Amino acid sequence: MTTLVPVLAIDGPSGSGKGTVAAKVASALGFRCLDSGALYRILVFQADRKGIELDQTAALVDLAETIEVEFVEGRVLLGGEDVTDAIRSESVGAKASKIAAVAEIRQALLSLQRRCVRPPGLVADGRDMGTIVFPNANLKIYLTASAEERAQRRHKQLIAKGQGGSLRALVEDISARDDRDMNRDTAPLKPADDSIEIDSTQMTIDEVVDCVLHHWQNR
Ligand code: C5P
Repeated sequence: MTTLVPVLAIDGPSGSGKGTVAAKVASALGFRCLDSGALYRILVFQADRKGIELDQTAALVDLAETIEVEFVEGRVLLGGEDVTDAIRSESVGAKASKIAAVAEIRQALLSLQRRCVRPPGLVADGRDMGTIVFPNANLKIYLTASAEERAQRRHKQLIAKGQGGSLRALVEDISARDDRDMNRDTAPLKPADDSIEIDSTQMTIDEVVDCVLHHWQNR
């Protein structure tokens, strides 16, 4: 069974390019976009602002239930405030991966994610889009790339933003995050049984986008 409003789920590890691919595919199809990682990042960001520690699960669950987020033209708006750049740092990402291992927090974000399914369709990217959040998605893509390639891409992005950082430290961060995301008990990162795997190590973003659109048209 697939969903009434079409859903295209893209999962994969950090830096596999799924966010960029999801945005381009959504724009080509005229669909809405859900960047589910942004929700975990926003939670960390808001907790910090409100003085909530990351081990205060009940307070984080309450906070998760009040989040008002919109994805508009590649920007992430939290209650109308543009937080796109503020939530993108490596440190927010690493903390997000820690709270994302907590079952109650994942549960608190479920309905928010499912409410994003609205006509004409949704492209959702994350770690558990095809396995947990949208098990009936019309197409499930699992996007990978080698850890070295993902670290290099991230390094280039940081340099473009005028931020430095050693490549070796990035490879270590990415590997630690992969390890945490793949080996947690709740909703671990893994390909859904009915997903199509694309290894983007040797591909450009546009090649990946074309490949996903091809699978969408031929599903
Ligand atoms: O994709 P992004 O790097 O923004 O995600 C940040 C962190 O949020 C990931 O490392 C992962 O632990 C968590 N996450 C998740 N499930 C999702 C999306 C993100 O656990 N669907």
